[in-house]
Amino acid sequence: MSTTTSPIVIPPSPGAAWNPVSPPDTNAPAVDFGPIQPLLDDPTVSEVMVNGPFLVFAERKGVISKTDVKFRDDEHVREIIQRIVKPLGRRIDTKCPMVDARLPDGSRVNAVIAPAAIDGSSITLRKFGKGKMAAADLIRLGSMTQPVADFLRACVLGHLNMVVAGGTGSGKTTLLNVLSSFIPEGERIVTIEDAAELKLDQEHVVRLESVKPDLDGSGEVTIRDLVKNALRMRPERIVVGECRGGEALDMLQAMNTGHSGSLTTLHANTPRDTISRIETMALMAGIDFPIRVIREQIASAVEVIIQQARLRDGTRKITHVSEIGGMEGERIMLQDIFRFENGELQPTGIRPLFLPKLLSTGFQFNPEMFMPGRRR
Ligand SMILES: Nc1ncnc2c1ncn2[C@@H]1O[C@H](COP(=O)(O)OP(=O)(O)OP(=O)(O)O)[C@@H](O)[C@H]1O
Ligand SMILES: [Mg+2]
Repeated sequence: MSTTTSPIVIPPSPGAAWNPVSPPDTNAPAVDFGPIQPLLDDPTVSEVMVNGPFLVFAERKGVISKTDVKFRDDEHVREIIQRIVKPLGRRIDTKCPMVDARLPDGSRVNAVIAPAAIDGSSITLRKFGKGKMAAADLIRLGSMTQPVADFLRACVLGHLNMVVAGGTGSGKTTLLNVLSSFIPEGERIVTIEDAAELKLDQEHVVRLESVKPDLDGSGEVTIRDLVKNALRMRPERIVVGECRGGEALDMLQAMNTGHSGSLTTLHANTPRDTISRIETMALMAGIDFPIRVIREQIASAVEVIIQQARLRDGTRKITHVSEIGGMEGERIMLQDIFRFENGELQPTGIRPLFLPKLLSTGFQFNPEMFMPGRRR
């Protein structure tokens, strides 16, 4: 079993400060991940999923398949889990059977053991991509087209509020990173995440991360706390890794009160579904606003929804770029500007209502960009 080739290293001492964006400390001793080590060493594998000792899956090129890897028994899996989490200063045991952590190289790992895991201990490990994906990579991979990339860049430069929506593992964070890379140098950016995954090159960035509570329940810092706090930090842009709850309401208020150009992601399957997710999450803030008021806030705050999807063949694609165009009675108006149809992300023929805002940023565009079938 290899002990030297792992790209994953542990920090020199438990709980030592480390920065996932900086290169890993190659002097630190490598953790041996046991039976899954070969998968971690394999550059074509992007994610490893252990469902108990005898079922291990790996994702290659977006396609998940079963591997031949097996552990001796469940105790063996638990032993590897302990080996992963202990150096990080984290614990997992029957009283606290779940852990969510980030390895020193930036890879993300989640582990669950009994009693919460019923059929054996589980490990989900998303390897930290080598280098970061840029807009050109997403174009090369067929996830978006050059005109859409140009359009999205103009939206970011034009300080539009944008939401990336998609299913789990659909590429939301990757796209958020690409959008964030369009923010001009010099603007003050505050990023807020559960586990810092964004890799921004700009200099003027403050990175904040939520803090899990101690076993006695104290010390928790939620995404919502951080969003509220960020408003006092004079941000020009707030980038929230993922909205899952009440922070959506704070985000809407931030977007509506001079922090335009904010970006976030959320879990939803269609642009329309995204709107209802935001409504539900805003209600989770526990403030008794009538739904109509929340809808009005959404309609005036969010300008662009980008829908990302992982297709059956394993590819990840933008399927919709949609505009929120205000309210019509009780309903939020939504129109697609680009839509994935017949195997391609194409313009729908609708020009966005916010176009004047983009033009005022000096955005140069070919008017045919929005015309179907004439673009290429
Ligand atoms: N456009 C793309 N083409 C191919 N692979 C991609 C693309 N976007 C992301 N990936 C890969 O897919 C995996 C998941 O990406 P990412 O973390 O961005 O998804 P996510 O939607 O944020 O996931 P989660 O729901 O777990 O937060 C990563 O391994 C990433 O490198
Ligand atoms: Mg993500």
